[in-house]
Amino acid sequence: MSDRYLRFVESGFGRWFSRKAGLPQPVSLLRAAAGEPKLPTLVGGAPDSPLRATLDRLLAGMHLPDAPYAPKIHALIYDASGLTSIEALSDLYQFFHTHVRRVAGNGRIIVVGTPPEQASDASARIAQRALEGFVRSVGKELKRGITAQLLYLDPADPAAVDSTLRFFLSYRSAYVSGQVVRIGPPPAPAPADLDYSQPLKGRRALVTGASRGIGKSIAQVLARQGADIVALDVPAAEQGLREIAHRTHGQYVALDITAADAGAQLLGHGPFDIVVHNAGITRDRTLAKMSETEWSSVMAVNLLAPQRLTDALLAGNGLKPQAAVVCVSSISGIAGNLGQSNYAASKAGVIGLVQSLAPRLVAIGGSINAVAPGFIETEMTAKIPLGIREAGRRLNSMSQGGLPVDVAETIAWLADPSSRGVNGQIVRVCGQSLLGA
Ligand SMILES: NC(=O)c1ccc[n+]([C@@H]2O[C@H](COP(=O)([O-])OP(=O)(O)OC[C@H]3O[C@@H](n4cnc5c(N)ncnc54)[C@H](O)[C@@H]3O)[C@@H](O)[C@H]2O)c1
Repeated sequence: MSDRYLRFVESGFGRWFSRKAGLPQPVSLLRAAAGEPKLPTLVGGAPDSPLRATLDRLLAGMHLPDAPYAPKIHALIYDASGLTSIEALSDLYQFFHTHVRRVAGNGRIIVVGTPPEQASDASARIAQRALEGFVRSVGKELKRGITAQLLYLDPADPAAVDSTLRFFLSYRSAYVSGQVVRIGPPPAPAPADLDYSQPLKGRRALVTGASRGIGKSIAQVLARQGADIVALDVPAAEQGLREIAHRTHGQYVALDITAADAGAQLLGHGPFDIVVHNAGITRDRTLAKMSETEWSSVMAVNLLAPQRLTDALLAGNGLKPQAAVVCVSSISGIAGNLGQSNYAASKAGVIGLVQSLAPRLVAIGGSINAVAPGFIETEMTAKIPLGIREAGRRLNSMSQGGLPVDVAETIAWLADPSSRGVNGQIVRVCGQSLLGA
C-alpha cells in the first residue's frame, strides 16, 4: 500500500510545510536495489584493540572507499570492545560528537562492544551495558533513514561479526534500527568458498505462508540469494503458491501446518538447510469477547505448529547440519496490543520457542532466531482503520511503515551460513518502533 504522506513530504512544498508544522519527516529508504553504499566508512575506538585488526580486514574486503577526510560518510563504526570504565565512555562521545554530522542520509551507525557478562570487572560491565542506551538514543535522534545498532561480539571469535557487519552496513537493513545483536563463536566454521552475492546457493529453504505478503517476499529474497525454495501454504492458496514457485524456480507444498501429520509430510520434502516459520493469523478481539476458537486457532497456527514442525524435523533428520531456523514473531509479542491477547501470547511464545530450542540447534551446528516485525505495509495492515494505521506507521524512528522485503532481507541475513554465531535472538524489523522499546 502506498504511503501518500511520504510522497507529500518529499515534494518541495511538503517538506517546507511539514517542517513548519512540526510533522514527521520521513525520507524514502534505500534498499538492496540501490546497490552497495558508495561513501566511505570511518572507524573509531582504540586503534590497537584485537577487534580493530579484524574490523579493518573485513572492511578492506568489502572494498569500501577509505577517506577519513571526506565531507560525507556512509557509516561510523566504533570499536567499544576495550572500554572498561565509565570515564572511558567519553571517547565514544568524542568520536560521534565530532563526526555525526557527516553521516549521509540512509547512513549507518554501528557500535561493537563486548557482552557485559564477559567483561573483565564491574566497571567494564557497566561501561559495556551503557552502550545500549547510547545506541538507542542515537537511532532516535538522527532520522534521515540513518540506522544505529549495537553488536556485542564474543572476543573469542571476532571474525564471526562478518555477515552481521555486512548486513548492517548495507541497504538491506533499511528498516532495522536500535537493535542489540549478540554474536558468539559459530558452532561450525562458515564455508570457506562462500559467494557473498549468493550465500544461500544450493540451500534448500522451506518458507511457510509463502503464497502472499511477507512470506512471498521471503521466498523471493532467499531465491535471489541462491536458495532452492519449497513454498508452503494452505490448499486454498494454491494459485498464489504456484505463482511463487514458478517465479523462484522452486517447488510448492499445499499443506495446512496445523494438520496432525504436517511434520511427517514435511519430512518427505526435506531435508532442509533453512526453515522459515512465517505463516501466521490474527483473530483480534478484546479478551472478554474473544471466543475459544479465536484463541485456540491463533495458538495453533502461530505457536503450536512451529513447535511441532521443528520438533518433527529435528527428530526425523529433516534439518541438515548447520541448518538455520527463523521464526516470525511480532512487536505485539514484545509490547502487547489492545485486542490481541491471543496473538501477542502466541508471538511472545515464539520468542520462548527460539530461546528454548537454541541449544538443540547448536548441537547440529545450526541456529534458530526470530524476527519481530513492526508495522509492515501488507494487505493485513491496509485493513486497519486510517487513524490507527497512521499512528502505527509514524511512531518509529523512520516515521514510516516497513515493506515485506525488509523482513525478508533480515531473515536472509540470519539464514546466511556465516551467521551461525547469531543464535537464540530476536531482531526487531520495526524502524525502531516506540512500542515495546
Ligand atoms: N504485516 C505486518 O505488519 C506484520 C507485523 C508483525 C508480524 N507479522 C507476521 O508476519 C507473518 C506474515 O504476515 P503477513 O502480513 O504476510 O500475513 P498474510 O495474512 O498476508 O500471510 C500469512 C500467510 O500464512 C498462511 N497461513 C495461515 N494459516 C496457515 C496454515 N494453517 N497453514 C499454512 N499456511 C497458513 C496464509 O494463507 C497466508 O498466505 C505472520 O506470522 C504475521 O503474524 C506481520
